[in-house]
Amino acid sequence: MTTQKIHIGVINISDRASAGIYEDIPGKATVAILEEYLSTPFDPIYRVIPDEQAQIEEELIQLSDSYKCCLIITTGGTGPAIRDVTPEATEAVCQKMLPGFGELMRATSLQYVPTAILSRQTAGIRGSSLLINLPGKPKAIRECLEAIFPAIPYCIDLIGGPYLETNEETIKAFRPRK
Ligand code: MTE
Repeated sequence: MTTQKIHIGVINISDRASAGIYEDIPGKATVAILEEYLSTPFDPIYRVIPDEQAQIEEELIQLSDSYKCCLIITTGGTGPAIRDVTPEATEAVCQKMLPGFGELMRATSLQYVPTAILSRQTAGIRGSSLLINLPGKPKAIRECLEAIFPAIPYCIDLIGGPYLETNEETIKAFRPRK
């Protein structure tokens, strides 16, 4: 068991939320779901930033390298619009991509909306951090997290992160071997 504080990064990537035009609902929704799912205590490291690729890369690097977040979740900026650059920033800072996360999220989301295929959301590894992109809609955030979360604790084990435990009545982590 680790005695170090567990940090999880949540970055809401939105021009309008970062300018104060919209309330930061996606970031708050993500933290609330993580609190619901995880029984292991963690400290959220929270950011609201505009859709600027350089700034997104800078924050991802800081949350991974300096704050040692085992998990970094971004919300928003995954679509086809000109300002949507979250997947590009994620790929630029990752050493290894995990395309299965995006594939599963799109397949699951397609059961809810035909526009699920518009999200280019992806995931990857930087050091001992798992980086995952979610779409910006709070409803989409829950739909996607529910699908992928069972694989997240084991992925974090494999990259040398802390042993995360879940509240089994809300979500069950799958570990192929103990
Ligand atoms: N996924 C789910 N589960 N639910 C949704 O409502 N919306 C889609 C898609 N994925 C959606 C979803 C839409 S309309 C878009 S444009 C893309 O996510 C990208 O969203 P983003 O730009 O907020 O990241």
